[in-house]
Amino acid sequence: MSQESRQASRQELHAVEWADDGLLLIDQTLLPDRLERLRVTDVDTLVDAIRRLVVRGAPAIGVAGAYGVALALRQAERAGWDRTALLAAIARIREARPTAVNLAVCVDRVLPLLDQGPDAVLAEAHAVLREDEQANRTMAGHGADWLVKRVGALRPLRLLTHCNTGALATAGWGTALGVIRELHARDLVEVVYADETRPLLQGSRLTAWELAHDGIPHYVQADGAAAGTILRGEVDAAVVGADRVAANGDTANKVGTVAVALACAEAGIPFLVAAPTTTVDLATASGEGIHIELRGEDEVLEWGGLRTAPAVSRGHNPAFDVTPGRLVTALVTERGVLEVAAGQLPADHLHGP
Ligand code: MRU
Repeated sequence: MSQESRQASRQELHAVEWADDGLLLIDQTLLPDRLERLRVTDVDTLVDAIRRLVVRGAPAIGVAGAYGVALALRQAERAGWDRTALLAAIARIREARPTAVNLAVCVDRVLPLLDQGPDAVLAEAHAVLREDEQANRTMAGHGADWLVKRVGALRPLRLLTHCNTGALATAGWGTALGVIRELHARDLVEVVYADETRPLLQGSRLTAWELAHDGIPHYVQADGAAAGTILRGEVDAAVVGADRVAANGDTANKVGTVAVALACAEAGIPFLVAAPTTTVDLATASGEGIHIELRGEDEVLEWGGLRTAPAVSRGHNPAFDVTPGRLVTALVTERGVLEVAAGQLPADHLHGP
């Protein structure tokens, strides 16, 4: 890890920022070796950054999408695009990745301001960013309270998480990792098992880096180790994020999550999903309606640009899986905790006034 990377990791991270009329994205493909920011001032670069996971995590790509509309408007003014070209550019941002609903939700939120000009869109995008960080901090408190009540606080907890759900994946603080950070602030974390999260290692590259930054004791383990660790009784609860939660509680999250949920059910320990309400998609009835992103074969056939599988092998690379709602012990949002474990999510609780 470079000196710059270590120093910067002592401050609160901002994966997405607006500065000098452009977007600054922490290039998450380079972490933990190098902490560098990519400056984005045009739609093509933003779409490419979202697809390559320079910026990633459902809430973070939502925020980037909202700012993307402001970028598109400015680019339209510079390049003399007509309205059709502008709307096509915004649609490309909205569809850059299909599974996390936050991207479409946040683009759609700022879209009605298009006719009021870039400043109005930008002001709304700033609000999207502020609200996401605030939601994470509120959610962290709810999730920590619930876990303490459910598991007991007689000793610090042993937690397991999958993928990266920290400041890097959000506007700040984090969702599932935010709950873990809140428990750590209360001296209630013994250890975190961070699944490495194949194929792109968001767990070992990003979650471990964030845990190290906070001084939270942790192990990185192979995804295949998670079920055994849980069934041996070494974990008190699993806490994960979500990319989209359907109306019946079915939850799409990083591939490998459903195996963690099955192991938690078998072991009788809580499986907690932490996600802001921007991730809850009541218009999608169940997990069957969630589009699971299928990524390039090379991500599983190669590592570091070197082929690891035989030349004749094909790769199967779904980026997400769906955990049935019945395996979700509870869903925590900024609005509180829902012990759903099957059945319809209450719309008034999630999206009401
Ligand atoms: O492909 P990624 O890295 O964007 O996937 C991210 C995840 O699956 C996270 O667990 C999820 O988005 C929650 S982020 C707070």
